[in-house]
Amino acid sequence: MDFRHSTAAATLALGLLAVPLAGARADDGLPGAGKHLFETHCRICHADDLAKKSYGPPLVGVIGRKAGSYPGFAYSDAMKGAGFTWTDTAVKAWMADNTHMLPGTKMRHVGVTDPGEQELIVGYLRSISK
Ligand code: HEC
Repeated sequence: MDFRHSTAAATLALGLLAVPLAGARADDGLPGAGKHLFETHCRICHADDLAKKSYGPPLVGVIGRKAGSYPGFAYSDAMKGAGFTWTDTAVKAWMADNTHMLPGTKMRHVGVTDPGEQELIVGYLRSISK
């Protein structure tokens, strides 16, 4: 490979890196990155805005909310009887292995086990829980 080609490849690689970094600009930590992960793993079933419809319960205000308590959502019996409140730790455990945490839940297993990703998603959920 001659020098001009490798320079072009490096310029292209830098250009690609700049895209996610630009999306991560934000008000508390990295909600841009957290929002992106939320959209990848959760948004297909959960709304992050009460004006949007979703198959699962909306996650606006979920941190600090009693499990299974969003008005009007048809939760599983398991979730209705869960009896705990959603904390950062509980939500992380939930996204890692929800079907083990609450057998009988109707949320399918998502398996987000990377602690960095969990932190970013929880950060985003906090930002929409104020
Ligand atoms: C395939 C659809 C689907 C995906 C993907 C999904 N969920 Fe869920 N989620 C549900 C459903 C359905 C419920 C209700 C579960 C029940 O009633 O047992 C739920 C419930 C929850 C609850 C409890 C809410 C409450 O009001 O008590 C939390 C927290 C949650 N999900 C977080 C997440 C996060 C975070 C992600 C992404 C990492 C995610 N979910 C991905 C469908 C999904």
